[in-house]
Amino acid sequence: MTTAPAPHSAGSPVANPINLTVNGVGVGVPANSRVLDALRKAGFDVPTLCYDERVGPKGTCRMCLVEVEVDGRIETVASCTSFAAEDQKVETHSEELKDYRKTLLEMLLSETSAPKKFPESDDTAHSEFYRAVQEYDAKPGAVPLLERRAPAPDPNPFIQRDYDLCIACYRCTNICNEWEQAGAITVDGRGQDSKIFSFFNNNLLDSPCTFCGQCINTCPTGALTDRKLAGVDPHETEQTKTVCPYCGVGCGIELVTLDGELVGTKPDFSAPSRGSLCVKGQFASWEFVKSEQRLKYPLVRRNGILERATWDEALDLVAANFKKIVDEDGPDSIVCWASARVVTEANYLLQKFARVAIGTNNIDNCSRT
Ligand code: SF4
Ligand code: SF4
Ligand code: FES
Repeated sequence: MTTAPAPHSAGSPVANPINLTVNGVGVGVPANSRVLDALRKAGFDVPTLCYDERVGPKGTCRMCLVEVEVDGRIETVASCTSFAAEDQKVETHSEELKDYRKTLLEMLLSETSAPKKFPESDDTAHSEFYRAVQEYDAKPGAVPLLERRAPAPDPNPFIQRDYDLCIACYRCTNICNEWEQAGAITVDGRGQDSKIFSFFNNNLLDSPCTFCGQCINTCPTGALTDRKLAGVDPHETEQTKTVCPYCGVGCGIELVTLDGELVGTKPDFSAPSRGSLCVKGQFASWEFVKSEQRLKYPLVRRNGILERATWDEALDLVAANFKKIVDEDGPDSIVCWASARVVTEANYLLQKFARVAIGTNNIDNCSRT
């Protein structure tokens, strides 16, 4: 038996709010807010298995249904699609709603292999779907089991696709088509025969997939997981917010560490990039930290062999060579390339160095390409 979670607070005041009550807690939300926004602001929550705020409400899973009182009548509406209204009374956890959600979850359980995999797969165990199954005490086998969807035999190195865990919520296809606009995956078939399919041979490497990873982080079941973090319990790790080191856009990432060891990265949804990453930020922005080839101190080539040097030795050598080139071929024989990944002040200094120290206007920046 589940109960409505205790409210934390009704949030900070908003200008010209719509005022309503959720489970008896008064809350004000801006105009055009959804009922879902209001109930979350009031400190409650409901499962939202088809909802990702990046692509907006779809209203298909019906897990977020709540009761609202309209003109003295009780109506049951999807809180993700319905707008909050003045003086509305919202109930999120009536006995009928809890029974309804439990039944829906048991129907979804009947089409997945999740019950067997839950203890083995950390990503699955921490999924939205499994948390809802636990919260509503949904029982595997309460509804006759259906045939499983086949896992995708996909050799891509980034995304593991266990479609036997899929509940056909279509969050992955929505995010791929409407947010990432890659159009790499689609729904094939109907009902229990429906499956997620990628162009052209159900192999992501042959598809328009950009390996942005958005389908992984929206999937509510663990059907889609990040291979590099397979088996890593998210509760055992620490996340440190930082900025992807690759290009000038500077998307937000979180470094994932386990016992002080860097084991991967995740998108930072609180950053201005709102969790969007390219394949480098999503899957490769951390491995070079451990590279044996990483440059950690100056190296000077002596007799054809790179040897460790002091900063003074290295800088004296560079300065002497610059001077030699300028003396022999003139300052315009040198071009300076600034970096998108250093601070503005450093780029300013580089153009100053080009113009004043070298004497050339040959200065450009990789961000222009
Ligand atoms: S990784 Fe990105 S582009 Fe590829 S299928 Fe997932 S959402 Fe689409
Ligand atoms: S793979 Fe995940 S996100 Fe995609 S439809 Fe299945 S459960 Fe939903
Ligand atoms: S989250 Fe509202 S219907 Fe799925």
